Parts: sequence; C-alpha cells; structure tokens
Amino acid sequence: MIAATRRAVLAGAGALAACSRASAEPPAGPLPPLKAAAPFPLGVCAMSEQFDDLGWSELVRTHFDRVTPEWEMKAEAYAKPDGSYDFSRADRIVDAAARRGLSAFGHTIVWYSQVPRRFEALDGDRRAFAEAYRAYVTRVAGHFAGRVAGWDVVNEPVLDDGEGYRDCLWRRNLGMDYVRLAFEHAREADPEAVLFLNEYNLEQLPAKRADFLRLAESLLKAGAPIGGLGTQTHVPADLKSGAIRQTVRELGALGLKVHVSELDVSLNRGPGLLSSRQALLDGQKRIVEEAAGALLDLPPAQRWGLTVWGARDRDSWLRRPPENGGRSDDAPLLFDDEGRPKPVAHALAAALGR
Ligand code: XIL
Repeated sequence: MIAATRRAVLAGAGALAACSRASAEPPAGPLPPLKAAAPFPLGVCAMSEQFDDLGWSELVRTHFDRVTPEWEMKAEAYAKPDGSYDFSRADRIVDAAARRGLSAFGHTIVWYSQVPRRFEALDGDRRAFAEAYRAYVTRVAGHFAGRVAGWDVVNEPVLDDGEGYRDCLWRRNLGMDYVRLAFEHAREADPEAVLFLNEYNLEQLPAKRADFLRLAESLLKAGAPIGGLGTQTHVPADLKSGAIRQTVRELGALGLKVHVSELDVSLNRGPGLLSSRQALLDGQKRIVEEAAGALLDLPPAQRWGLTVWGARDRDSWLRRPPENGGRSDDAPLLFDDEGRPKPVAHALAAALGR
C-alpha cells in the first residue's frame, strides 16, 4: 500500500480510538479496511458456501487478503474411499477467492487426524506405503499448484502435551521421515508455494514449542524445502501476556517465514473461567495486539501474515459442538454475529498501524 493511503487509514483508526476512549467497552463504529492497515497479509478461514452469503463475502473482501479453507481442503473432504479425489469444493473456494482478489492458502496435506482410508490397507507394507504417500502428496499439491500461495504441508506433528512426536499411521510406516518426505513431494509438485509446518498450543506449552522447533531445525538440516512455520494460536482470553510474542520470536529465530495461522481468542476456555466478561474482553484485545506486534517485530520478509479462524463470531468452530463443549455463547472473533466490527477489531487495526 502506498504511504499516503496507509497514513490516512491510520489517522482514521486513531480518530475512532479517541472517540471511544470514554467508555470501558466502546461501541465499535465503522472500521477502516483492516488489510489496508496491515503491512503483512491478513487471512481468514472460509467454507465454500460462505461465498454465497453476501454479508460474509463483502466483509471478507473488504478486510482480508487471503483465505484458508476451513475444512474442504482436508483429506476427509477430498479423498474418497476408492482412492479417487474430489477437489470440487476446495476448487470453489480458491476460484471464488480469486474472483474477489483474494489469494488462497492450502490447509492441509498431511495431518495425523485425517489419513485417507486406503492407506490403512497398506499399513506394514513400507514400500507400497511410501509410493502411495508420494502419489498422494504430489496429487494434492499438484492439483492446486499455481493457485495457492502456500501450504500447511504437515499439520500438528507434535503430541498434545509436547512430550515428543505423534504416533500416527504416516509415522508408523515411514518413521519421522514422513515429515521431510511430505515437504519434498509437495515441492516436486508445486515449485512455488511456500511450504509450512503448522502446530497448535505452542504459546501455552514451552516443551511443545521446543519439540516443534527441534523438528523444524532437523528439516532445515536435512535440506527439506520448508519455507515457514505456522502457529495456530487458538488461545484463551486469559493467555499469559508475552506468550505469543515469545512464540513468534522463537519461530522467527530460524529465519523462516512465520504465520499466525488460525487465530481465535476464546472467552470460554482456559483456567480463568471466573474472570469477568470485561476482563476477558480486555484480554482478547491484548492478545490480538500482541499477535500483530509480534509479527511486526519480525523482519518484513519473514511476516507471512495473520489469519483469523473465522470472520464473524457465528462462523467460529468454537460455536459448534463438540469443539467447545457445546457452548454457543463464545465470541472469539473480530466481528459480531451480524458482521459488525467489535472493539477487538479496532484494537487490531490500531496495533497493525503502529
Ligand atoms: C477445525 C475446523 O474449524 C472445523 O470446522 C473442523 O471440522 C475441524 O477442524 N486446528 C486446525 C484446523 O488445524 O484445521 C481446525 O479446524 C482447528 C484446529
């Protein structure tokens, strides 16, 4: 964005902040396009049918640069039991995004929780498994080559509690090499996309972060074509201050691009369930400010961007049981159910402009 436009946008955001300083939780007025305030790409997750919702579509076009398919670019959605593929819904997202001037980010090829069914039949046959693995990764990456800016090639390789790496069908047959091979096969099929390793709970669990970084380092040492590290950042509103900054800094220290890849800030989770709603809302603002600031602290070439896991609160996965224990009153995103910007969106705009 040219400097003059950026200054104008920031002046607008500053004026809004000044008007609303009087009350504790100010009514959120009009918001300048977030993407215009951001010196790095802003992303949001998307489902194909959301593009038919004019309110959602306009909101996303106005404020974001990039979409990550929320579900339809996962094996469960496109890999059929007979070994064939149906990419039609993912294609719909990528094409609809492109028509609105948005780029797409692929999510995800290799994920322990979604192994295409036909791999089960190959369990134990190392050679056949390795061949099928290569065919699978190149097929998926090849299908979207030239149409996605990047990929979460491997998602969530570290155990929940951070005590080592996951035991999954991929690993049982290929060893931890399954990670390196995924990157190599993806690169073979898509020479351009930036290839990411993505993980969650890195902010809360330093031991998990250390395992994740060790894996990333081993990939770099092995010459794997890894280009970036993603931290999902599904966090509670009472997350310890500084945890995101520390995580982004440590990820950035390897010299790779860093993606805050699935940001949402739940008001319902975490140990501080007894905090007042206002305290949680303040925590939410602090967290998005911290995430933006942490990315801004990186050298520009390492800022892959910040992606939120949904536009409006009612779009959030945390509103859908069982992910949030059936809670329907969470409000983890930047826009309310009607698509109106919440104070947390203004906080993000202001932080992006710093
Ligand atoms: C979630 C989606 O939001 C849900 O709609 C889906 O059914 C399950 O997955 N980490 C990830 C995302 O990498 O793919 C998950 O998305 C959220 C946690």
